[in-house]
Amino acid sequence: MALPRACFVIPTYNEADNITLLLTQVLESMDTHAGWEVTVLVVDDDSPDGTGARVRTFMATEPRVHLLTGSKRGLGDAYLRGFERALSEFDPDVLVQMDADFSHAPADCPRLLDALDDKTDLVIGSRYVSGGRIDADWHVLRRWLSRGGNFLARYVARLYSVRDCTAGFKATRVTALNEAKPQRFRIQGYVFQVALLHSLVVAGARVTEIPICFHERSRGATKLGVKDLLEFSIHVWWLRLQGRNTFSKFMLTGLSGVFVNLGTFAALLSVGMHQYLASACAVELSIISNFLINNYWTFGYRDIPTRKRIRGLKYNVVSLATLAISLATFVSLSVVNSQGSPMLHQLLSVLPAGLVNYFANSYWTFRER
Ligand code: GDD
Ligand code: MN
Repeated sequence: MALPRACFVIPTYNEADNITLLLTQVLESMDTHAGWEVTVLVVDDDSPDGTGARVRTFMATEPRVHLLTGSKRGLGDAYLRGFERALSEFDPDVLVQMDADFSHAPADCPRLLDALDDKTDLVIGSRYVSGGRIDADWHVLRRWLSRGGNFLARYVARLYSVRDCTAGFKATRVTALNEAKPQRFRIQGYVFQVALLHSLVVAGARVTEIPICFHERSRGATKLGVKDLLEFSIHVWWLRLQGRNTFSKFMLTGLSGVFVNLGTFAALLSVGMHQYLASACAVELSIISNFLINNYWTFGYRDIPTRKRIRGLKYNVVSLATLAISLATFVSLSVVNSQGSPMLHQLLSVLPAGLVNYFANSYWTFRER
């Protein structure tokens, strides 16, 4: 039976001091581990330090190594060109991404590929799962940048289920990659890692993180620049809009709830019910309609481990809190501004209650696996 094919795509810019040893060690570690047919594609952006020449020398005795050159437009751009070439030329089953500066240990390659079982489409060599580490000598500023980047990726781009969203050591099934369609990305820099992860997750890829130790490079310097950070900070918001639009759907659901709320309230007032009781009843009815819409529409796509019964129970707890906050707001407003319109008070009470409702439901009731 033919072995599955793994193509390593390794971007380089000024890695002349690293690339030869890296290629040697990657191939060595994969050779001691039968089971994969390996090719390596180095994507070098005409590095002025002669990285490309080192790769060519290596290629003279190693037919599995290939070189793609181009002009420097950033890490993401290099990966996009590398992926395109790898897919068209080597027909791989799996694409592996890794840095050329030994931040990702070549010895970890077999373990990364081993984790790609039948139930997994993407394996991430992760610094932030239990057992994962970062060398003590990684600069404190880089640690905070990495933490900040992961925070933005997880909570702005909604990749909460992944711990290391900016990781550069990954193995991806080509079938999953074809669903994610990275060709359409308009990205130059490091945010490529997050954009790729995001499109994979949205396309339903199953992700596993395995712990790795991330080593600080001992030769050369990082290429991460201000331009990358800027692009990153903007692009995570774009990813949020591109995604499932849970927040927009929740807002729309909430808007429908406002109509249910106010409609019920007006109807109950017109039949002579006391305004406090009418307010509570109106909120309760809108909570029920919101739950149904959020459960089947807003969060309908989510893989939620809790059973529906528990979910319903949790929703009721959140609803109670929402009801309490809404009623408290309504009563306070009515007391403070006794001449004001009850309709306005009811409308204003929706604001704090709605916010608590969203966060509690998104992160608790409908929490993803
Ligand atoms: N071809 C090409 N073009 N390669 C590039 C470019 C570029 O514009 N910019 C960077 N690279 C290569 C580097 O030569 C190296 O092999 C790899 O991409 C990673 O670049 P580094 O500059 O070493 O990145 P880092 O150590 O600052 O960043 C690490 O952490 C990031 C955040 O966690 C990497 O693991 C990144 O992949 C990761 O996103
Ligand atoms: Mn590095």
